[in-house]
Amino acid sequence: MRVNRILCSHCVLFLLLLCLKFINGQYQASPHIIVFMVDDLGWNDVGFHGSNQIPTPNIDALAYNGIILNRHYVQPSCTPTRAAFFSGKYPLRMGMQGQGIMGGETRGLPLGVRLLPEYLRDYGYSTRLVGKWHLGFHTRLHTPLNRGFDSFFGYYNSYISYYDYRYSQGNMSGFDLHRGDSPAHGTPNQYVTELLTNEALKIIDNHDVNHPLYLQLNHLGVHAPLEKSSRTSNYNDDKFEHIADKSRKTYAEMVVEIDESLGQIVSALGDRGMLKNSIILFMTDNGAPTIGKFRNWGSNWPLRGTKYTLYEGGLRGVAAIWSPRLQRPAKVSNNLMHVTDWLPTLFSAAGGNVQELGEIDGIDHWQHLSNDEKAPRHKILLNIDEVSKTEAAINKRYKLVRGVYQQGYYDSYYGDSGKDFYIGEYNYTLVHRSSVATAISAHLGDPMTQPSVMTHLREEATVLCNNLLHRSSRSRSPCENDTECLFDIVNDPCEERNVAKQYPKEMRELDLMLLSYGNLLVHQPKKTIIDWSADPKRRNDTWEPWLHPSYFEDQYGYNKAEAITVSMFIYYVVFVISHFYALI
Ligand SMILES: *[C@@H]1O[C@H](CO)[C@@H](O)[C@H](O)[C@H]1NC(C)=O
Ligand SMILES: *[C@@H]1O[C@H](CO)[C@@H](O)[C@H](O)[C@H]1NC(C)=O
Ligand SMILES: *[C@@H]1O[C@H](CO)[C@@H](O)[C@H](O)[C@H]1NC(C)=O
Ligand SMILES: *[C@@H]1O[C@H](CO)[C@@H](O)[C@H](O)[C@H]1NC(C)=O
Repeated sequence: MRVNRILCSHCVLFLLLLCLKFINGQYQASPHIIVFMVDDLGWNDVGFHGSNQIPTPNIDALAYNGIILNRHYVQPSCTPTRAAFFSGKYPLRMGMQGQGIMGGETRGLPLGVRLLPEYLRDYGYSTRLVGKWHLGFHTRLHTPLNRGFDSFFGYYNSYISYYDYRYSQGNMSGFDLHRGDSPAHGTPNQYVTELLTNEALKIIDNHDVNHPLYLQLNHLGVHAPLEKSSRTSNYNDDKFEHIADKSRKTYAEMVVEIDESLGQIVSALGDRGMLKNSIILFMTDNGAPTIGKFRNWGSNWPLRGTKYTLYEGGLRGVAAIWSPRLQRPAKVSNNLMHVTDWLPTLFSAAGGNVQELGEIDGIDHWQHLSNDEKAPRHKILLNIDEVSKTEAAINKRYKLVRGVYQQGYYDSYYGDSGKDFYIGEYNYTLVHRSSVATAISAHLGDPMTQPSVMTHLREEATVLCNNLLHRSSRSRSPCENDTECLFDIVNDPCEERNVAKQYPKEMRELDLMLLSYGNLLVHQPKKTIIDWSADPKRRNDTWEPWLHPSYFEDQYGYNKAEAITVSMFIYYVVFVISHFYALI
């Protein structure tokens, strides 16, 4: 009897080991996931959307060899997009639908929400964040190391200066660069795009390639303030002769830095033998703020509107995905995608079962992207912001926009077309010789960047609207007065014609959709409340969490004590069950 019992407990142990071995085997098959997120990059600021103005050979090479996501929708500004990306939920479910978090606000992504790095960590991933966070840091519990990342090197606020890494809010100003949860004092004053790239390269170099890596590189570039790198400035001044506006010239140089960063990352993945087992997602968090607040001189031409708006210029974000796991690459996808889709899509690519993700708004596109299966998404809730009183949604080809943000200040056409005759030709040789194309051909065989293929893809990914009005920043939106517009975004991607009267049924459908999502809305604070006790002066001139976690109870119902009780309970159940088995 006793022998039997011992034998059986060995059985259990053996089974457990077998399980572990199996799971471990699965881990090894999981792809490395690299998310390369750019800040405030305009639709028309990459070569593959048809502009000849700023050469982006590395970005273009990645796009032409992967899938150009031509209808990839994001949120109108940084915090909401990042909240949606990490959680797979529409921001209005979390009170994150409004403006970005300002320094000193006691606001963050609710702690009860589980994030992409937490899910991937369960599947054996090393999870690393380099660069921007911007999802709250008033308590330590809100910072990246407590939200699923194994390591963090970057900044908490919406932006920092490019050389001395400082952020200001009202009369508060301080250093905002951190390693883990400590200030990274003593970091040499290197141009931040280079600094963050070097950090990402170190992570790739030191990574144990037998385990899957999830590296999220959230660049500061090309967010304001306009600061260029001293490394390339002389060389670039000649390169951008064709750009008249001095600020736009600086912006172009900043974009080139980002392009080179991508080239270095992809080369490094190749050198470590990781490229053949990687998924690389390139995306912007929202459209460019061509004018107004945090202006960076980016261009969303010919799309209407800028960052902050619900027009295509704000929401139709530049994006492309590359991976050897894509069975049919070198194409342009015009299927609808939303930023919430990345949680289930990447989780699914990692071998996860999306049922585990609970109630999310994101839809798994992995089979669609990798095996060219049917596109799963036909509707997108773009946003409902109860404070600015604006809302929008898409159903197939129709988009309903309601309300006007800041008296329509941002709702026109701004930015360069990049098509003026003096700019010259698009240089395919440059794309073919880029670091990205070179790395792909060295490690995976011939890339598809043959000029004829590139020309074709580029044409397909270019939005054309025939109206010269696009050059005018004075052409007002057709819904500035009636404050309700229906656009056929397939035939009218530049949102010039309000077709609400012609399509009452489509109007009603979208109206109902907005109504039903409105019921899920969690209110955001009506007014921005800055807690002046966040002042970096009190913390050695550094932005750091300033509230003790125990003083803080999440307004969305999360309570740390409860979470501990639940995990204790689960532990207890597992303990009892395992002992029960050991006994019989
Ligand atoms: C900063 O400004 C706020 C409000 O404008 C004020 O309450 C606070 O005392 C100021 N702090 C300092 C250090 O001047
Ligand atoms: C394209 O780029 C290559 C490589 O830098 C250069 O040699 C060539 O002159 C460029 N072609 C044109 C038409 O500008
Ligand atoms: C909106 O109303 C203003 C003032 O009445 C008018 O000047 C403008 O043309 C109207 N805009 C549109 C798009 O109808
Ligand atoms: C305070 O900040 C300075 C750099 O500004 C740094 O050299 C110093 O080590 C910091 N002191 C502490 C106690 O962290």
